[in-house]
Amino acid sequence: MGDAPDLRESYSLMPPHELHGQRPFQDGYLDEVEGILLSHRQIRSRIDAIAREMYADFSDNSALFVYLCDGSRRFAQELGASIESQELSLRFSPLPLTAKSYHGNTSTGNVVIDESELAVIRDRLHEDRDITDVVLIEDIVDTGLTMTRTARDIAKLREHPLMNVSICTLLDKPERRLDIAQNLPIQYVGFVIPDLFVIGFGLDYNGRFRDMDHIGIPTREAIEKYA
Ligand code: IMP
Ligand code: MG
Repeated sequence: MGDAPDLRESYSLMPPHELHGQRPFQDGYLDEVEGILLSHRQIRSRIDAIAREMYADFSDNSALFVYLCDGSRRFAQELGASIESQELSLRFSPLPLTAKSYHGNTSTGNVVIDESELAVIRDRLHEDRDITDVVLIEDIVDTGLTMTRTARDIAKLREHPLMNVSICTLLDKPERRLDIAQNLPIQYVGFVIPDLFVIGFGLDYNGRFRDMDHIGIPTREAIEKYA
């Protein structure tokens, strides 16, 4: 976690058309992106490092991975691909969990967690007593409300033997962190970022930009258009 680049002190937004030789933009996004904060190449290299950190911690396969829908599916997929391409023998078949808390570009304050997905995770934890850890995979931790609620609900799923719940987030945006979320067990971080509304690589703005390969900032026009 100590290795995560911290972009709060300084960052640059790369003009989208300057991404030479990297993955091109999906149709329609080029003109709707103000600038690129993190290119797909930068994201991939951090994911490779996180995969190695996880392997160092859980090569005994004692962890169950859970990814938060829909925002973290892309991150979880690329983590899995990275584990495979680096030939790390880590059992990684993350289970989905839908926790919704966000509308548009401001947090709503309430978190709704899918009960049937939670039941699947509970069953797995009861069947497999060797699991000592649950690692929650998240795209971004902002106020921390979603992860506070989710980690609490997961921890309640199995009290004997007790398990440890930790968080792996691609982006950590600590500026607006709530007091109740100050001690979140964030163990793995891709990048620490300033308080910017970002899109791409799973992160959406009202459903748009989720499938963009890079992480960037939408233009003012795009924000108004898809409000
Ligand atoms: P939190 O509960 O405030 O920590 O919010 C977490 C959720 O809000 C994330 O899982 C995202 O879905 C969403 N979110 C927070 N910041 C951003 C952002 O900059 N872009 C897109 N979604 C965001
Ligand atoms: Mg999310």
